[in-house]
Order: sequence, then structure tokens, then C-alpha cells
Amino acid sequence: MAEPILKVDGLVKHFPLTQGIVFKRRIGAVQAVDGISFELHKGETLGIVGESGCGKSTVAKVLMNLERATAGQVHYKGQDITGLTGKALKAVRRNIQLVFQDPYTSLNPRMTVGDIVGEPFEIHPEVAPKGNRRKAVQDLLDVVGLNPEYINRYPHQFSGGQRQRIGIARGLALKPEIIICDEPVSALDVSVQAQVINLLDQLQSEFDLSYVFIAHDLSIVRHISDRVGVMYLGKMVEIGTEEQIYEHPTHPYTQALLSAVPVPDPTGREDRHRIILSGELPSPANPPSGCRFRTRCWKAQPRCGEEEPLLANPEGMAGEALHHSACHFAAEREHV
Ligand SMILES: Nc1ncnc2c1ncn2[C@@H]1O[C@H](COP(=O)(O)OP(=O)(O)OP(=O)(O)O)[C@@H](O)[C@H]1O
Ligand code: SF4
Ligand SMILES: [Mg+2]
Repeated sequence: MAEPILKVDGLVKHFPLTQGIVFKRRIGAVQAVDGISFELHKGETLGIVGESGCGKSTVAKVLMNLERATAGQVHYKGQDITGLTGKALKAVRRNIQLVFQDPYTSLNPRMTVGDIVGEPFEIHPEVAPKGNRRKAVQDLLDVVGLNPEYINRYPHQFSGGQRQRIGIARGLALKPEIIICDEPVSALDVSVQAQVINLLDQLQSEFDLSYVFIAHDLSIVRHISDRVGVMYLGKMVEIGTEEQIYEHPTHPYTQALLSAVPVPDPTGREDRHRIILSGELPSPANPPSGCRFRTRCWKAQPRCGEEEPLLANPEGMAGEALHHSACHFAAEREHV
């Protein structure tokens, strides 16, 4: 298989917890991301899903080098980009862009759409020399389905979906290879979500883009993802192809998330066994020993508190449904 465009190995990001105002003492750490590994291949979309606070945005920020990794490495086309600074970082950043969740707060209200979309050209003038910038911005607006004549308008003159298109146009400006989409449709109305996802899908084929697509809802990423990774409290608990995760999930947490996804077929809904998770999400500053999911898992055994389950192929399983799952008792559900 070809070399992945992005390779993440044992990524850790801990935020120090301190006490005291003048003399700050370190009293612990928020283990926001704790040893995550995955690969992204050219032209592929990897969905990353998990509840609020499980560390998805932190992964995105470390991939973008907006936060420094505590440990682990990120390789871009074989080059270790963890901890790059200066010119080398600037060169890599051009190829990896971020599209944010909230089109209301991520766009500067005092800048025109033309200035917002063209701002990356200030940092990388070689992509669009000064005289060509207006035309380059208008082309970008056209590509994302906005009227190029709106170039002098301000963000408040657009709807939520249109603002997210502005954010996407800006993300495309430097002709990146990878776009990290951090909940790009979560703030939008359901009717608009599908339009923005379809646009991202279409841009992917047009520009040969690779996506990391973050969401808290498994139903949102299914349509666009080739593979999906499920996160829980700073760990990746299951990862596989779209088919493996949605049709053959083996981790209890994924099974619980999927049982809550509405089924369009009304007869299927009747047979479906919804799993209600008990207990609160533990704090990432003080995660449970062994398996982090054990305080909410209905299958937990004493072994789960003593030994951390590794993300690997479960023993005794075979066939097309075989994929990585971090559970000592990984198994498909008998009744869906
Ligand atoms: N700069 C920071 N300092 C301290 N803790 C942080 C910082 N950034 C994030 N955290 C903590 O790290 C954990 C993971 O946060 P993160 O934003 O990555 O989660 P998320 O999965 O993106 O959540 P959401 O779905 O709400 O966006 C949370 O407990 C959060 O409070
Ligand atoms: S390792 Fe144990 S606690 Fe963790 S998911 Fe599997 S059965 Fe549940
Ligand atoms: Mg987030």
C-alpha cells in the first residue's frame, strides 16, 4: 500500500493543571489525548467521532501544530512534522488546512468576504500574486457555490450555511492536500448540513483532497467517511472501514453510540435495542484505570480495571468484519 499522507503515532497531549496564583504548582494534568495512532491515505476521508470533551479538537490542533504534542509523532508524507517551527512549519501548514465548527465566530465580522478568503495569500503570496488576488478569491467563491459578486459583503449578510462555505473557500485558498474539518456542520440546521457535506464530497474529488472529518454524531460522518475512528476520553477505542464500524461494531461504546442513531426504516426501529449508558463521563484529569470506558460499560469485568485493552484485532475473529477494537471482550452484538 502507498505511504500514508498523514501518519500519527502514539500522540499524547496533556494540559498541566496548576494551583496557586504567584507560584504555580503543577497538581496534575488533563489527559486530553492519550496515545492515539492512525493513518490517513491520499484521497481518503477518516471520520473521527466521540462525545464532547473526548479530545477531538485537541487532535486537530496538534495535527495543525497549533498545540505542541506532549509525546508521539505526526508524519506528513514521511516527514516528521511534530515540533517544526519557522519556515519549515510554514511550508507544511500550507498543505494542511483547518475548517472550524462555528461559522459565526470563526469569521472576523469587520472583514469583507474577499479579505477573509484572500487572507491566506498575505502569508503565502506565491500562491496568488498581488494583481491576481481578486480574481483568485472570486474563483474560490464560485467553487464553493457562492456568487463571486458577493466579494465585498460582510459575514453578517450571509446565512449559516453560506458562512461555512466562506470558511471552506478560505481553507481551499492555498490549494492544500489535507483539510481537517472540525465539526464543520454541527452548528448548522439539519437541512443545510447535507448541502455542506455534499459540497465537501464534491471538492474532494475535484481537488484530490484528503479529509479528517470530526463530528460527535456517527450519523453525520457515515456518508462522507471511508474509515471511521471512535474516541472515548482521550483514546481511540475502535477504528475500521465505514462498513465495519456501522455494520459490525465490536466495542461496547461504539455499539451504544450506534444504538442511539435513528433508523430511517420504521420496521427496523422497532427491533432495535437502544443501549442507555449509565454514569457520568469521567474527568480526563482523573481517568479510570485499565479500560477508561469501564465505569459506563455493561460488559465490564475485574480484568477491565487492571489491564488496559489495546487497539488491535480481537482474538478469535476473522473475515471481512475484522478490525481494531480496544476491548478485552470485543464482539459483535447478537441483537441489533
Ligand atoms: N487549553 C486547554 N487547557 C486545559 N484543558 C484543555 C485545553 N483544551 C482542551 N482541554 C480539555 O481537554 C479535553 C478535550 O477537549 P477537546 O476540545 O479536544 O474535546 P472535543 O472532543 O473537541 O469536545 P467538543 O465535542 O466539545 O468540541 C477537555 O476536557 C477539555 O476541557
Ligand atoms: S475492556 Fe471491559 S470495560 Fe472496556 S469496553 Fe471492553 S468490556 Fe467494557
Ligand atoms: Mg471540539
